[in-house]
Amino acid sequence: MNRRGFLKIAGGTAAATLLATYAFSDKQNIMRDDVADIPISSEKLYPDERKILYLASLAPSGHNTQPWMIKYLAPYHWIVCNDKMKWLPAVDPSQRETILSIGAFIQNIDYAADSLGYIAEYKLLANSNQDEDMVEIRLNKTSNKSNYNLENIKLRRTIRSGFLNDIISANDMHFICSGDNNHFHYIPNKTKEQQWLSELTVDANHQQIYRDDAQNELANWMRLSTDDALKYKDGLTTASMEISGLSGWIVRNLYKKENVLSVKFREQSLAKVKNQATNLGGWLLMTSENGDTASLLETGKRLQRMLLKTRVKKIGVHPMTQILEEDIYKAELQSRMKITNSIQFVLRLGYVQNYPKPVSLRRPIESFIQLI
Ligand SMILES: Cc1cc2nc3c(=O)[nH]c(=O)nc-3n(C[C@H](O)[C@H](O)[C@H](O)COP(=O)(O)O)c2cc1C
Repeated sequence: MNRRGFLKIAGGTAAATLLATYAFSDKQNIMRDDVADIPISSEKLYPDERKILYLASLAPSGHNTQPWMIKYLAPYHWIVCNDKMKWLPAVDPSQRETILSIGAFIQNIDYAADSLGYIAEYKLLANSNQDEDMVEIRLNKTSNKSNYNLENIKLRRTIRSGFLNDIISANDMHFICSGDNNHFHYIPNKTKEQQWLSELTVDANHQQIYRDDAQNELANWMRLSTDDALKYKDGLTTASMEISGLSGWIVRNLYKKENVLSVKFREQSLAKVKNQATNLGGWLLMTSENGDTASLLETGKRLQRMLLKTRVKKIGVHPMTQILEEDIYKAELQSRMKITNSIQFVLRLGYVQNYPKPVSLRRPIESFIQLI
């Protein structure tokens, strides 16, 4: 065989190998719609209970850990619990964010129950963020159903890219925050405070990205491959991290935990944050009365009520909590902003052209219910 013939055959073989590798590779940027909510096999749950708990589970949570659990005492009588296995000790050592997430979960229960004709009675059981039993809930059937639109819960999502730089209009701010100026503080784009807050966010991220315990914890909650995403149905997938196209393929097929810990990955993450910090319509700070568990649960509920109003206004919300997770930056924020109440959320806001479909996955209901 002459050289030309050999090169032709070798080239053809390489192309065929590449094609075959691609054909059998992990090509799916899996989304929530791709994963069916499998009905619970136990007869113990009533259909309305299933609906309510499914909707509750669509609440946001840090790293999508879904830190809630339900102790099932009797039909429509549950205890919402704090699942210790889902804590994030490196970034949330006092479980502040865990409780905020559980608050959002309870708000979804409230709206879902109300729309199905139940009135919820709540009893706070927790004295601290570390207690397992948080809130006892009884749902009582009534003849009234609210007309709350459950699509708000189903279609809400965290958005991390594609923000326009337009300032959020006063009307829209009033609408999403329900006119509550005690707990919400909007810092519009292109103001001195916004620029300062954007810089502080980058600095806090820089500190956290190079903190090995925090990066290691993040890596443990990343579901890099579709197999892992389907196995765990929690954490951060390529779709929820908004890594698409070729980059998404590379992460799903070639990345391992070690890559997330590499300097290159950390540099890329910081570059992304710098970009996000300059693309926004402003920052929204949320405060609570104090830092106790009841106040944090209330703040989580308030957050969720606000988030559920953003889609209709095409406003994307991206929690960027690193300032609050890195102590020196938290102190700086609190003193510079001259806000006396404790700041519990730093949220990047921006109008988006199109509000995208939700992508983050949720564990099936039976995985977070203890039938007792
Ligand atoms: C307390 C809390 C803290 C969060 N912190 C961040 C954050 O720092 N950066 C980020 O990109 N998303 C953050 N999120 C958003 C979660 O990652 C997101 O809610 C989760 O992945 C589920 O996705 P979904 O909101 O689209 O349902 C946070 C959410 C909560 C409730």
